[in-house]
Amino acid sequence: MPDGRLSSRAGILPRNSVYAFRSTRYVALDERGMTMADLEALKRVAAARALELVKPGMRLGLGTGSTAKHFVELLGERVAGGLAVVCVPTSEQTHALALTVGIPLSTLDETPELDLTVDGADELDHQLRLIKGGGAALLREKIVAAASARMIVIADETKLVDTLGRFPLPIEVAPFGMTSTIVAVKRALAASGCHGSVTVRRDKAGAVLVTDGGHHILDAALARIADPAALSQALAAVPGVMEHGLFLGLATGAILATGSGLKLIGQID
Ligand code: 5RP
Repeated sequence: MPDGRLSSRAGILPRNSVYAFRSTRYVALDERGMTMADLEALKRVAAARALELVKPGMRLGLGTGSTAKHFVELLGERVAGGLAVVCVPTSEQTHALALTVGIPLSTLDETPELDLTVDGADELDHQLRLIKGGGAALLREKIVAAASARMIVIADETKLVDTLGRFPLPIEVAPFGMTSTIVAVKRALAASGCHGSVTVRRDKAGAVLVTDGGHHILDAALARIADPAALSQALAAVPGVMEHGLFLGLATGAILATGSGLKLIGQID
């Protein structure tokens, strides 16, 4: 975990960053005072705990993102050791990783009901309401979660909030008529008491991002979502909105890795 903060030295390190000295080099700390390595270690601990829930013969949903990646890698090791499971990935990215580590894959058409989905989240509150879609996979993630008897969220502790909305809400929309859809989305936000900017997500090359399903993503920076249920309903009613990143009533438990151990929310075992 973080071992303190050191100011950068002008001319050697960027002025506005915080750094810590780790054995032989300076490493960047984020706003919570954690290094990337700290966060990755926490994610892997949460993933390892979720792996304990996996039993032979299970039908699993595999999430998307950097935390879910740890779970897929660890599951691959168990499969290599003889564990028999069948898995449905929530994105092309996870599909490719799962193939690489030798996990047997299926589809929801072949395996329409799943026992357990393990996935990350961009944000969750104490009632297990989630914001997802930071990795642009929310549509498949929601379909897979809804097809699962249990959905366990794995995350580091920084994802837990008292009120959803710090993370901009991803909204997946059809390319057709997107400008009209944006107008309608803004109306739905306002009618639900939410205010903030709506931007079209772009990829690293600057092009409008295209999801696995051929749609685009709007990111609504709302800061605070006072009534997630009202917002969910209002967005779902907008033609052109394929799905939105509020996952309400889907997660059955959460495993959060903290600097001082695991924090469990909801039903885990
Ligand atoms: C992808 C997601 C991810 O679960 C979410 O973005 C969390 O990702 P990470 O574990 O990398 O923080 O919703 O669409």
